[in-house]
Amino acid sequence: MTTSSNPPNSVTPDQTSGMWGGRFSEATDAFVAEFTASVQFDQRFYKQDIAGSIAHATMLAKVGVLTEAERDDIIEGLSTIRSEIEAGTFEWRIDLEDVHMNIESRLTQRIGITGKKLHTGRSRNDQVATDIRLYLRDEIDDILKLLERLQKGLLGLAAKNVNTIMPGFTHLQTAQPVTFGHHLLAWFEMLVRDSERLQDCRKRVNRLPLGSAALAGTTYPIDRAYTAELLGFDAVCENSLDAVSDRDFAIEFNAAASLIMMHLSRMSEELILWTSAQFKFVNIPDRFCTGSSIMPQKKNPDVPELIRGKSGRVFGDLISLLTLMKGQPLAYNKDNQEDKEPLFDAIDTVRGSLMAFADMIPALVPNIEIMREAALRGFSTATDLADYLVKKGVAFRDAHEIVGKAVALGVAEEKDLSELTLEQLQQFSDLITADVFDKALTLEASVNARDHIGGTSPKQVEAAIARAHTRLEQLYA
Ligand code: ARG
Repeated sequence: MTTSSNPPNSVTPDQTSGMWGGRFSEATDAFVAEFTASVQFDQRFYKQDIAGSIAHATMLAKVGVLTEAERDDIIEGLSTIRSEIEAGTFEWRIDLEDVHMNIESRLTQRIGITGKKLHTGRSRNDQVATDIRLYLRDEIDDILKLLERLQKGLLGLAAKNVNTIMPGFTHLQTAQPVTFGHHLLAWFEMLVRDSERLQDCRKRVNRLPLGSAALAGTTYPIDRAYTAELLGFDAVCENSLDAVSDRDFAIEFNAAASLIMMHLSRMSEELILWTSAQFKFVNIPDRFCTGSSIMPQKKNPDVPELIRGKSGRVFGDLISLLTLMKGQPLAYNKDNQEDKEPLFDAIDTVRGSLMAFADMIPALVPNIEIMREAALRGFSTATDLADYLVKKGVAFRDAHEIVGKAVALGVAEEKDLSELTLEQLQQFSDLITADVFDKALTLEASVNARDHIGGTSPKQVEAAIARAHTRLEQLYA
């Protein structure tokens, strides 16, 4: 940093300092100008900044602070600037610090002195808080659409696999048979809660900070309810100090995004296991995979692996925002400029991950025979045999002990319970009769028996899918 009164490395005073430089006796150090700028990343919400300014000017004209002609000049100028940005002809300047001053400076360049009136009764503090809320609201709406698409894909795949039987696991050890459709519906439920959380978060995002000005409000006769209505906000933020300073709505979003990523990461982990040569439960089409530059046989599940990895960045983004906020006294502090990158990163990562999943899920191909084979290994029907004995009057703990002994015999003979003879089974209990093979020891008997709401029977899964379609309609009404 330079200290001379005429520093060579400084931005010229007619640049940024033209907007706030009145009390300064030297220009900003060039490094400091770059270090404190945010335009490199906040230009992303130029559209929201312009929409917010148009609403503000419209409100100012309504209450008589601007004339209608001034309002119209401002709106026209801002619309042209939006076109310039979208055409790629707008020159973003680091020396103008952020998206707000870049656009305002260009406005004054285009329409003259009227441009300088736009900032009446507002501050960049309430302006930036408004922009982020508008931006995040739109992103939440897009993310909800992706969630809906993924959920529909899961229901479609589940409907095709109501009768597909696979082993269900606890401790990653074979536990009981389940239907693949049922497993997919478990994923669906996780996403229902994720969607509810985002929709709930959106309610708190969608409040208008504008009108809070720097921190205390403004002396002009503003109509905040009108600005809120123009921008589609549900309500205004009630307290100006709170409105310009808190970013809890962004933290909440990052928490909801973290939970989405945690769920996608768990699903990814299962897909990675299931596509391995050891499991072979499903195939992921080649277009979602890549190969190895050395091992010719490799087809790697890159998309799920990457999503499992990316979950870490989003958790980090959440911690960044929490840490950013925790030490700040009221009201706005420059710290808050650091809210943007962790928020944008979480948005981008969750969007990309959901997009990949929404494309990939309907394309998954289950290996139905292999899943069935796997369910036949690992004594998955042992609980069913115990339940069979309970229905014949044996106390559950005793039944557990009896079946445990039968399993030990199966282990010794390398046979499933269904492959033992009736005589062998009867050594452990004479209550076991020939009907045991149909009633307890087939995979179908096992899944069909779990015939209540939330259970894995094909009948229940079919009903759950039908209900899920109705629930989706309500969720995204
Ligand atoms: N670029 C700033 C930010 O992102 C805008 C608000 C600046 N306000 C201020 N008083 N310096 O937070």
